Amino acid sequence: ALVSMRQLLDHAGEFGYGLPAFNINDMEQVLAVMGAAAAVDAPVILQASRGARSFAGDAVLRHLVQAAVEIHPDIPVCLHQDHGNGPETCLSAIVAGFTSVMMDGSLLPDGKTPADWDANVAVTADVVRSAHMVGASVEGELGVLGSLETGMGEKEDGHGAEGVLDHSQLLTDPDQAVAFVRATGVDALAVAMGTSHGAYKFSRKPTGDILALNVIREINARDSGIHLVMHGSSSVPQDLQDILNAYGGEIPQTFGVPIEEIVEAIRFGVRKVNIDTDCRMAMTGQIRKIFAEKPGEFDLRKYMKPAMEAMQALCKARFEEFGAAGRA
Ligand code: G3H
Ligand code: 13P
Ligand code: NA
Ligand code: ZN
Repeated sequence: ALVSMRQLLDHAGEFGYGLPAFNINDMEQVLAVMGAAAAVDAPVILQASRGARSFAGDAVLRHLVQAAVEIHPDIPVCLHQDHGNGPETCLSAIVAGFTSVMMDGSLLPDGKTPADWDANVAVTADVVRSAHMVGASVEGELGVLGSLETGMGEKEDGHGAEGVLDHSQLLTDPDQAVAFVRATGVDALAVAMGTSHGAYKFSRKPTGDILALNVIREINARDSGIHLVMHGSSSVPQDLQDILNAYGGEIPQTFGVPIEEIVEAIRFGVRKVNIDTDCRMAMTGQIRKIFAEKPGEFDLRKYMKPAMEAMQALCKARFEEFGAAGRA
């Protein structure tokens, strides 16, 4: 059944596990997540970015997710808007069938300029009021994602604060986090703690100076009932980097968020763990491999099938590692 995110996160909170939230853009990714969830009996959060909505279209996304629910009637599924940048995006998602939205008010609607407290609280509380009227959940964000190594906001295309940021902007303040949840009524809160989107998060395996799990621990110590969200939580496994590079890719050595750090964060209230990059790398690695090994092949099923299988294996591992297996 299609359910709100609040239902899933409350269950995860009660039983002390975390849910991976996988970004989806097409049929192959939806089937990969669902195949993994069915294999281990896990609840599912599928999330679509604004880019995913314009790539596939709302009608396609809605029907893909309805197909997933029809194929797997016993698995609870949430369809979540990832990084909504304003009320229009969030409310149009709900109308399109999403059961949850992220109102990312940490940045102004341009997606580049850090927002101040009042602006973030106002727009987030506004979306919460509307979403809750129709049973949809809301995730907010306080603090700006970016690198504690360089002090830079994200430099990816599409979204992310521009330029060098203050350390205090790159780390969510625990007292403010609690106040923000109370002021807005959000169901879940994304925090800044040194992770960033994409493959290039850290230049070395991160330790406490560049991945600040303390933010999580301190919020949890103040209010253990808050459902926390970690963005930028791909682990960027070495084997996926190696497959890409073995078949013509050019991925400079990089480090993601170690699984053991995520597992530790789940002990302190993280309930939703966003993963997109790992899935992209898993799929693209297999496609590169087939293209390199069989240059005469042009039946898309011959490369999409291994791509799906690689993403499914990745998703299954994350469900198990985060304790979500057996919770559907
Ligand atoms: O937040 C970023 C997610 O990885 C989605 O990426 O905006 O390129 O679809 P996207
Ligand atoms: P990654 O780029 O680490 O997969 O993060 C995805 C994310 O946070 C989507 O909102
Ligand atoms: Na999100
Ligand atoms: Zn994100």
